[in-house]
Amino acid sequence: MPIDVRPISDDELVPWVDTASTGFLERPDHEAIAAEVRPHWDLRRTWGAYDGSRIAGTLRTWPTELTVPGLAQVRGTAVTGVTVLPTHRRRGILSQLTAAEATAARGRGEVVALLYASEFPIYGRFGYGAATTSATWTLDAAAAELHPAVAPAGSVELLPSDDAGRDIAIGIFDAWRARQAGEIWRRPIMWAQDFGKGTAWGPPWKGFLVVHRDGAGSVDGYARYHVEGKWVERQPRNKLILDELHALTDDAYAGLWRFLASIDWVTRIEAEKRSPAERLPWLLANARAAVMSDVGDGMWVKLLDIPRALAARTYERSRSLVLEAIVRDGGETDSTAARVRVALDASPDGATAQPTDAEPDLTLNGAALGAAYLGGTRLRDAVLARGFDEHRPGALAEADALFATDRPPWTSTFF
Ligand SMILES: CC(C)(COP(=O)(O)OP(=O)(O)OC[C@H]1O[C@@H](n2cnc3c(N)ncnc32)[C@H](O)[C@@H]1OP(=O)(O)O)[C@@H](O)C(=O)NCCC(=O)NCCS
Repeated sequence: MPIDVRPISDDELVPWVDTASTGFLERPDHEAIAAEVRPHWDLRRTWGAYDGSRIAGTLRTWPTELTVPGLAQVRGTAVTGVTVLPTHRRRGILSQLTAAEATAARGRGEVVALLYASEFPIYGRFGYGAATTSATWTLDAAAAELHPAVAPAGSVELLPSDDAGRDIAIGIFDAWRARQAGEIWRRPIMWAQDFGKGTAWGPPWKGFLVVHRDGAGSVDGYARYHVEGKWVERQPRNKLILDELHALTDDAYAGLWRFLASIDWVTRIEAEKRSPAERLPWLLANARAAVMSDVGDGMWVKLLDIPRALAARTYERSRSLVLEAIVRDGGETDSTAARVRVALDASPDGATAQPTDAEPDLTLNGAALGAAYLGGTRLRDAVLARGFDEHRPGALAEADALFATDRPPWTSTFF
């Protein structure tokens, strides 16, 4: 029987959650999750793949904004909840779901599609490339004194992690994401869950909120954390899990880390989904107190509208190139896939990117463009997996230099 892919109706939400949790090998309370998410999810963006009346596959999206190099924000669709029942795998159902969503997202005028990949090999074939890099930082709190030359001004204050505290954090986060290529807008339901409201998926967050204030008393940074208690031979060895830390100034960044490392009973701090370019070790008298691990692909990007995406960012060099991208949304092969040709005139002040019939300088897979788009993944590396065709010698090196940015992108928001 052919599989029918369409948005679900309200009475299909519970079976949709059932299928999704089966795909993720979990057994939560489906009714409770459906009740919790119903007011927040847009069912027009909640796809089911139907085998008869049975939902055999799931994918849903929510609208967001992505900050790009040059700090413009482009509209994006954030893809999540992707599953296919183990009884239905490898029959092309995910391919149907990704193709349906790509068409719908273009229809909505969204420029990029974003996701986190459970497994690396899944999404390259659908035009997604690993665009940001994520890392875990571990800090030996006892050895984490700031370098004497680092003397952050300002103060730190514990706030209740209630609605008012959450709104202060949102204000700082939104100011911060406008300055950080790779960061995205977060939905209210994510903030609610981050601050311990609900969730039928697991125990609610119970932790602490701290803000940093500058000399004039304005809030310019925040951190959220919780603690795993541990005592060894009657000595405290607690581990602080840093859920997030965002700072608008260098003083706020250093001041918040200094505060966290000074908390009595805490000997170790762990922070996931941080940037590998973190300044933390360089602020310490003993840089080895901060150790980076678990470095790998963070958020993946697919360019849905290549001309608009390329025109939205700035470039640190000036160059004109004609690029041809092979665009795959679902089950296409390279020979059946669409080809999009764009004349890119790029400069530090901005860019134009127009569809063209001109001969291309470089043909490459759309997934490589998605990977390099935010400047964090080098184009010369991203093309390796799927190949490229250089029609003019030197075109790949020029495009590689054009897309790279001095400051790496970072996405702290997981979805
Ligand atoms: C990942 C998942 C959604 C794939 O669904 P699916 O319907 O089996 O995928 P498709 O049949 O459309 O596969 C399309 C292609 O991708 C490949 N592919 C799919 N999943 C893959 C995986 N996990 N690893 C490697 N290749 C994969 C298929 O082999 C197929 O390749 P082909 O075109 O060369 O034949 C499904 O296996 C699943 O639910 N996994 C568990 C949950 C999960 O990881 N979800 C993703 C969250 S980000």
